[in-house]
Amino acid sequence: MKEFDIKTKIYFGEDALDRLRQINYKKVMIITDPYVISSGMIRLVEDKLKAAGIEYTVFSDVVPDPPISKITIGVKALQDVCPEAVIAIGGGSAIDSAKAIKEIYSKGNKLPSLPLIAIPTTSGTGSEVTAFSVISDPEQGKKFPLISDDMIPEEAILDVEFVKSVPADITANTGMDVLTHAIEAYVSKNNNEFSAALAEKSVEICGAFLLRSYLSNNDIHARTKMHVASCLAGLAFNSASLGINHSIAHALGARFHIPHGRANAMLLPHVIEFNSDINKHSKSKKEYLPCVKKYINLAKMLGLYNFNEITTVRALVNWIQFMNKEMEIPTSISQCGIDKDEYMSCLDELADNALKDSCTATNPRVPSKEDIMRILIDLYD
Ligand SMILES: NC(=O)c1ccc[n+]([C@@H]2O[C@H](COP(=O)([O-])OP(=O)(O)OC[C@H]3O[C@@H](n4cnc5c(N)ncnc54)[C@H](O)[C@@H]3O)[C@@H](O)[C@H]2O)c1
Ligand SMILES: [Fe+2]
Repeated sequence: MKEFDIKTKIYFGEDALDRLRQINYKKVMIITDPYVISSGMIRLVEDKLKAAGIEYTVFSDVVPDPPISKITIGVKALQDVCPEAVIAIGGGSAIDSAKAIKEIYSKGNKLPSLPLIAIPTTSGTGSEVTAFSVISDPEQGKKFPLISDDMIPEEAILDVEFVKSVPADITANTGMDVLTHAIEAYVSKNNNEFSAALAEKSVEICGAFLLRSYLSNNDIHARTKMHVASCLAGLAFNSASLGINHSIAHALGARFHIPHGRANAMLLPHVIEFNSDINKHSKSKKEYLPCVKKYINLAKMLGLYNFNEITTVRALVNWIQFMNKEMEIPTSISQCGIDKDEYMSCLDELADNALKDSCTATNPRVPSKEDIMRILIDLYD
């Protein structure tokens, strides 16, 4: 038996933030990152809460790739306030922090899970609708996804006001995270008709609007579309899960602090080549792996259909490489300034961590440790 459901109520479009004036809580805690405070974006939320007479406190000690130590500090802050609900405002790091903080707080105090309202300020992770929270353990050099349906936000507010300020490099990284979520969910072993529909729409929007979003933060139409695409991809992978692109990106991000979306973008051409067993030297065959058909569907949607199976998968890979180049995303680890000897000396550990990552189980092609090491080696230059 299969199951598909969407727990999160999604508010989007013009004035979506007005939803905050209608919520039924007397006291809330806002969990956010320092940028939201320094940029003044926090005032957009505070004004709505004040107008509705809702008492609030702010916890803003969130850092990118949230480590366990910051989660512990957040749990203590929540303990001191005892709010009725949590509002998370920020990128994936702030929303993931809020999920982990409120979950540890609720479980530790044997309380029902605290309601969570998520307001993303990047169009990337889809964390506003997922059961995932990615936490880092800097001492062990690992990132691990916590997964619990109790962490899926009750509400998500997609308001373009919050993504107008995202600079080009973060738009590129987070936008390629969206595309990777959609593609990995689409070819995942757990994919189904519902997740596929969501993933297809997300890929279609990325094709039409990611580059436009990158080129100008005044292109409000493109940014509105990418904000929706990010949420659609989140819904898709919340149902279908992901694959080794994310497993390897988690391992690389934890060890070398490459931004999450950037690591995904660099890996995506290599992972499609591995999953489809098609590379630039491939000759045509009678039969292809099942995910080849799926990559071809996506290529067709992007207007990349090209002669036969091999040339079409190659066209998809070429398009991703083109997008990376246009958005000045490095194409290799060496371009990220990471020392070759240092990188090569930890390949074994990186491959072990990627294999153990929970995203690996749903990859369309089962990888061996050698396969992951090969991808990592090819990624160097
Ligand atoms: N929970 C999930 O389902 C899921 C999925 C994918 C990734 N992740 C995790 O999410 C994290 C990455 O999240 P992210 O890519 O959204 O980035 P992020 O939250 O780490 O933010 C990156 C940077 O962008 C800044 N920023 C955020 N919003 C901004 C805005 N509107 N204007 C200007 N700057 C802004 C932040 O202050 C920060 O410096 C990683 O830890 C990753 O592993 C989670
Ligand atoms: Fe991601």
